Amino acid sequence: MDPINVFEYEALAKQLMDPVYWDYYAGGSDDEVTLQVNRTDFNRIRLRPRMLVDVSHCDTRTTVLGQLIEMPIMVAPTALHGLGHTEGEYATAQGAGAAGTLMTASTESTRTLEEIAQAASGPLWFQLYIFHSLKLAAELVRRAEAAGYQAIVVTVDLPILGNRERSKRHTISIPLSALKEMVTGVEEEELRREPMTWETIDWLRSITHLPILLKGILTAEDAVLALEHGVDGIIVSNHGGRQLDGAVSSIEALPEIVEAVGGRCEVYMDGGIRRGTDVLKALALGARAVLVGRPILWGLAVDGSKGVQQVLKILQTELERAMKLAGCPTVASINRALVKWT
Ligand code: FNR
Repeated sequence: MDPINVFEYEALAKQLMDPVYWDYYAGGSDDEVTLQVNRTDFNRIRLRPRMLVDVSHCDTRTTVLGQLIEMPIMVAPTALHGLGHTEGEYATAQGAGAAGTLMTASTESTRTLEEIAQAASGPLWFQLYIFHSLKLAAELVRRAEAAGYQAIVVTVDLPILGNRERSKRHTISIPLSALKEMVTGVEEEELRREPMTWETIDWLRSITHLPILLKGILTAEDAVLALEHGVDGIIVSNHGGRQLDGAVSSIEALPEIVEAVGGRCEVYMDGGIRRGTDVLKALALGARAVLVGRPILWGLAVDGSKGVQQVLKILQTELERAMKLAGCPTVASINRALVKWT
């Protein structure tokens, strides 16, 4: 029987996957408090639905950085799709395109960014880690530009890796070899860590004309700095609870960032999105769109590109139903008055 919601994909994926790989996908850091509150904080928000609105036509389409997508739900960058399915990021790119939305390809993909671009039928952003040399980062940006990626998403919440204890119990050898493949042609000595600061964002701004988004911002203070450094978008995120445990949930951080930004750039969020109503709440609190991480990996593990497409379709259908029940026929009609914190 086909899964009817995202949680059923989770259960199936867990059954199907190698437990070592499952732990890598599922885990958070330390006691996984932030991982949990990413979900449970959605329950602190209640909806204030409006009645007697004509919702016979409901439109989930929106734009992100001017790009039309079928739903305000995009694919978050996650590493190593090859652990979930032999086709890896090919399948994810095809599934996202078939669902009519955008995929963000991770620096730590198991396929090259050019291969992903060839497989993709929808728009792509490239997620950049700047933890090796600036030369390598510049090379990746140049390749992403050439391959047609529409934006660079710089992940800023990983000065070092979080303490992921589930994965400490095993040696994940595949990820390391996959990483080596990813950086083919780069001398080993270049693979030392580059400290990343706001100056690095200025440097990045100087080497590319692509829009730059910062992923991993959790405070109004950093959102203001991001604007001062010329970014085009902010992704409110705590890396799916995999970095600093005890950090605020993404949905709780969202309002102060939206307020600080004041419409000067688009704000997105990821972390804990599992239901259409979660998307509705995030949009009501000012997110332009959301990104989903683990649910995409579950769909991928269960049924390759079809599973990815189906997970996105389920979320879109749930969002559409929630919009209708809340009296919101369009994404533009979703606003702050729709939600209250309990
Ligand atoms: C991630 N995330 C991530 N982020 C990033 O910028 N680059 C990356 O390579 C990865 N890799 C990665 C692997 C796995 C297995 C997970 C679960 C997450 C974080 C990701 O982009 C996103 O912030 C979270 O996954 C969102 O939370 P949910 O949707 O998984 O709850």
